[in-house]
Amino acid sequence: MTLSESLPAEAATAIDLAALPADFAWGTATSAYQIEGAADEDGRAPSIWDTFTRVPGAIDGGHHGDTACDHYHRWPEDIVLMRQLGTNAYRFSVSWPRVVPGGDGPANAKGLDFYDRLTDALLAAGIEPSVTLYHWDLPQALQDRGGWPERATAEHFAAYAALVAERLGDRVTQWATLNEPLCSAWIGHLEGRMAPGLTDLTAAVRASYHLLLGHGLAAEAVRDAAPGARIGIVNNLSTVEPATGSEADRAAARRMDGHVNRWWLDPVHGRGFPADMREVYGVDLPERPGDPATIAARLDWIGLNYYFPQIVTADPAGPAPHARQVDRPGAPRTGMGWEVDPHGLETLIMRLYEDYGARRIHITENGSSYPDTVAPDGTVHDPERAAYLTSHLAACARAVRRGAPVAGYYAWSLLDNFEWAYGYDKRFGLVHVDYATQRRTVKSSGRRYAEVIAAHRTR
Ligand code: IFM
Repeated sequence: MTLSESLPAEAATAIDLAALPADFAWGTATSAYQIEGAADEDGRAPSIWDTFTRVPGAIDGGHHGDTACDHYHRWPEDIVLMRQLGTNAYRFSVSWPRVVPGGDGPANAKGLDFYDRLTDALLAAGIEPSVTLYHWDLPQALQDRGGWPERATAEHFAAYAALVAERLGDRVTQWATLNEPLCSAWIGHLEGRMAPGLTDLTAAVRASYHLLLGHGLAAEAVRDAAPGARIGIVNNLSTVEPATGSEADRAAARRMDGHVNRWWLDPVHGRGFPADMREVYGVDLPERPGDPATIAARLDWIGLNYYFPQIVTADPAGPAPHARQVDRPGAPRTGMGWEVDPHGLETLIMRLYEDYGARRIHITENGSSYPDTVAPDGTVHDPERAAYLTSHLAACARAVRRGAPVAGYYAWSLLDNFEWAYGYDKRFGLVHVDYATQRRTVKSSGRRYAEVIAAHRTR
């Protein structure tokens, strides 16, 4: 069946629900620093985001994650919300500085206890936990020792991953090592817009290498600790098109594709780091024998976070990859200014399946920010987000019809939350959060998601 008749006009894209497998994971996603709060409770130590949010001018409004959505205390209520949406899966990240405050060394029992309770409660609610081990919150103690540009950080990451897997691995099967390493490396170390706020190409390339090495080492560690684990990595990918047919723009598009897609996909698929991009960066990789095989650890699934396409033009004077994004005139955009292009999701799913041979794909994030308002009656009507959700689910179903093994979709995000350098003013939630009172209100997009999920179950 399709849902086109039951959807409002603005969301009237048909979703071919019959294409989606019966055991499809209908999820929502969040990350620790963006929702937990409780920044200095129960032994948690600062992460690089606690530090970066204190840099004057780094974050809109001077916001930080000290309280965020107070999920650390309100998680039972948040699980009730997941049930109201009808979801059967939840992707969350574990805070490294909560579990191993010093970055290496002993575990903090209270930190592990929190994720233990959360896992048990999710399972009791019929919601499968999907654990991401790193969503950007490196312990500051490790940054003080050089952070991701240093090989030791990858080794400490694997040790931390083992601790978490030893504790949760009897109940959690779905594991992701890293979320969007592109952001950690390129935005955090090259563009300086995210923690740790560096603008240093050498540091960025070294960080990218050690993030992927950490992925491989952590995959091994989780497999050893939890033999039934299904392990993946989550990348944010974009379709890339040249702004014009000029050779300069077409070459820029190839470089941008290397920068945002191939650099992250090729090594974990055993193809090594792309030679053309090694030349563009001109930075020696800190390679050691055996690393390529470690980085290419078996992937049980691959996570795709998709938000927008990229139209690029050559920018010879700009930083690597000497290409920059331009706007496609007249294209619809979200409140982030990101172009809305659901076909890009279908294209990227097919690329993972056809070019990289993915056997199992999860859409680990997809969503949109719009400036929501709370109506006098307390409701939040967000038809644009509902339309975004619907059109992207439709794209996902089209890819499945074409044979792609998509096993789940996790809407970003369950809750409005701390949107990094944009602070709290950009809202991605299916559930509205009033930060003054911590009151949660399911938006109309959340109700739409619930209807889609229910329709899939009863088809
Ligand atoms: O909020 C982020 C998330 O942490 C990572 N992926 C993109 C989202 C929206 O910007």
